Amino acid sequence: MKAWLVTNKYYISKSFDRIKYLLHESAKNFDIELIEYNNLEMQNLLFNDNYTKPSFVLFWDKDVKLASMIESKGIKVFNSSDSIRLCDDKSLTYLKLLNSNIKQPKTIFSPLLYYHDTTEDDGYIDFILKSFEFPFVFKECFGSFGQQVSLINSKSELIDKIKSIGFCPYIIQELIKSSFGKDLRVYVVGDEVIASMKRENLSGDFRANIEVGSSGTPYEASNKQIEMALKVTKELGLSFGGIDLLFGENEEPIFCEANSNAYFNEIDKVSGVKIENKIFEHILKSI
Ligand SMILES: Nc1ncnc2c1ncn2[C@@H]1O[C@H](COP(=O)(O)OP(=O)(O)O)[C@@H](O)[C@H]1O
Ligand SMILES: [Mg+2]
Repeated sequence: MKAWLVTNKYYISKSFDRIKYLLHESAKNFDIELIEYNNLEMQNLLFNDNYTKPSFVLFWDKDVKLASMIESKGIKVFNSSDSIRLCDDKSLTYLKLLNSNIKQPKTIFSPLLYYHDTTEDDGYIDFILKSFEFPFVFKECFGSFGQQVSLINSKSELIDKIKSIGFCPYIIQELIKSSFGKDLRVYVVGDEVIASMKRENLSGDFRANIEVGSSGTPYEASNKQIEMALKVTKELGLSFGGIDLLFGENEEPIFCEANSNAYFNEIDKVSGVKIENKIFEHILKSI
């Protein structure tokens, strides 16, 4: 069978090259002819109606509009555009999970702005400062690898951050102190947790992303952690994904974020699980 792998023309990295290589190699084992298109090529094909329908699309990007356009042609996309949209925007993820009995850090999201300079003395800064103790966590709604996530230690830092960010939407969260510099990455495929690892940053940074210097170690997720990861995956409509959980007091799980196209370069080494095979097995079962 033929399938498409959609990637992003504007994102090039060695880590992603490895993921692509593993996906292509794995596809061969399942007799899938996996044809790769970047987002620009893909839109071009669809726009010009210049294609024959594949059996499915493995969408390894966050270009939600393009995923949605493919779906409009009656083609099944993994992950679906809806689930990618919910994961990609951290404020939407938070809102989607609000009524699901999933513990999340106390969170507020930025107001919709019509002008850039509306924050300093309109009561909003006071609202944030009354709601959170220093230090608290500032996250742009769209971001990866910990790059758009930072700690705010003072009022002036907060004001500088908000001024520098312009119209970009963000969330503010309480810092879960018991999880400082560590978290749990759980990889879910279908309704199964297939691998998990503890990530730890020994450099003093509160973020546990591999890309900011953490390393992963084997970790056997508890029933509560597994239950939370599966519930999150289901609520967000993911077929597969990497779920980040924080460690609350007594290892109680607290949801951090969900990744619709999580890299698995570290977790496959730590767990020995061939994530790419699990993804194709699941897709073939569901089409
Ligand atoms: N509220 C929080 N309390 C403590 N640590 C956090 C909190 N939110 C995020 N972190 C840490 O920062 C890392 C990056 O945050 P995350 O929301 O996963 O963004 P990204 O999409 O960049 O990975 C997490 O893996 C975790 O280690
Ligand atoms: Mg993360």
